[in-house]
Amino acid sequence: MQNPNIIQKSKMTENQQKKIYIKSYGCQMNEYDSRRILDLMAVEGYEQTQNPEMADLLVLNTCHIREKAAEKVYSDVGRYKLQKQGNAILAIVGCTAQAEGAEMMRRAPAIDMVIGPQNYHNLPKLVKQKHNGQKRQVDTEFPAEYKFDYLPEQTHQQGVSAFLAVQEGCDKFCTFCVVPFTRGAEYSRPAADILREAKGLINKGVREISLLGQNVNAWHGVGLDGKDWNLARLINALSELDNLWRIRYTTSHPLEMDDDLIACHRDNDKLQPWLHLPIQSGSNKILKAMNRRHTRDDYLRIIEKLRHARPDIALSSDFIVGFPGEDNLDFADTLNIIRQVVYASSFSFKYSPRPGTPAADMPQLDEHIKDERLAMVQELLNSQQQSFNHSMMGRNMAVLFERIAPKAHHHTATEMQWVGRSPYMQPVHIMHDGDLTGKILNLEIKNIQGHSLYGY
Ligand code: 5AD
Ligand code: SF4
Repeated sequence: MQNPNIIQKSKMTENQQKKIYIKSYGCQMNEYDSRRILDLMAVEGYEQTQNPEMADLLVLNTCHIREKAAEKVYSDVGRYKLQKQGNAILAIVGCTAQAEGAEMMRRAPAIDMVIGPQNYHNLPKLVKQKHNGQKRQVDTEFPAEYKFDYLPEQTHQQGVSAFLAVQEGCDKFCTFCVVPFTRGAEYSRPAADILREAKGLINKGVREISLLGQNVNAWHGVGLDGKDWNLARLINALSELDNLWRIRYTTSHPLEMDDDLIACHRDNDKLQPWLHLPIQSGSNKILKAMNRRHTRDDYLRIIEKLRHARPDIALSSDFIVGFPGEDNLDFADTLNIIRQVVYASSFSFKYSPRPGTPAADMPQLDEHIKDERLAMVQELLNSQQQSFNHSMMGRNMAVLFERIAPKAHHHTATEMQWVGRSPYMQPVHIMHDGDLTGKILNLEIKNIQGHSLYGY
């Protein structure tokens, strides 16, 4: 269907073009939402600017996962208030917007509107209302309709490797986590919508798709045959698409790691041997207090099955240290599960009490204990990442190239340094004189520097 606004946009002269500035504070889903907001506003005639002072609309896409992420937004609001021009609109969207809504409005009078992550398809309407003299608005009621049905086609995708949201929200209620409150209940997009979006991305040059969701492996949507499909089935359908070389999915919950998905790692060549499967803690006592609903042994059994299905699978996890009640023995269990599993890369965080979550009301540990434990866990994870990278030395691997390395010093008159990714998510560099965008080369790894591999 032709959107009349698109025709209107093409008739606009350069100086009529309205400008949108957007800043993301959060996870990959948050960045995906930012791109969808750019798509949405492009239809309204807005072009992206990197300069907040040029913007007619400033959008701060906030994150609420840890305290620091949320606090940063308030200091930025103060700064953007000074930078924004004339009657430019300042909109706060994302997870802090959802969690704090009216409170943000009270704290920061410079904010014109606050919109939750399930309501950002209303942004064009709210901006128009504001221009027509409407008062400041908060739009954080979870809507009955689903935003994906109201978003235009993705035009702001990111090159060779793109994200595609397939699932959103969470019903698991881990006691530390705001996601069930900020993103709402679990929702899976229908397979037909996902395949349509994937084809659009591929037509624009995307060769690798990472399926996104807060609980992506819990995806179970309406299939093309009208029946309920699981994620393995969706991945198999996606892998039939021409010119799509690689598929990944993130983030997964151990409870949802079913046998079909594990088998998919064995049977589907396009599904990459890499999995982010957070365990958070190695202690059964803490896992229980976190309401993770699985034990350390349940997790280890899943890892064993995955490695049986795909022996070279690279694993990654998230860890929280200093959760309420975590004693030395519990922490030792976290260190020893890391030694037992052996990760390719991971993220680790100090527990941060989030308002409204059950763990925030439990007795808290001292900050210096959290600092100490974080340093220990990070040292162990870093050393595992280094050995994983070093184990690649002399190996042959298929690298999907994305672009010319932005800050490389090694360009010559005829050759450029290109950067791509290994199947295990490592950045890989090579000198080459042709265009490697979207191409896969088989390389031998000859050098390793920091977290990067070099092939020749
Ligand atoms: N404090 C610290 N880390 C947290 N995470 C989620 N909530 C909190 C919190 N309150 C971490 C978890 C999760 C990742 C996205 O962020 O490890 O997997
Ligand atoms: Fe932050 Fe979680 Fe929201 Fe992502 S979903 S932006 S990590 S609070």
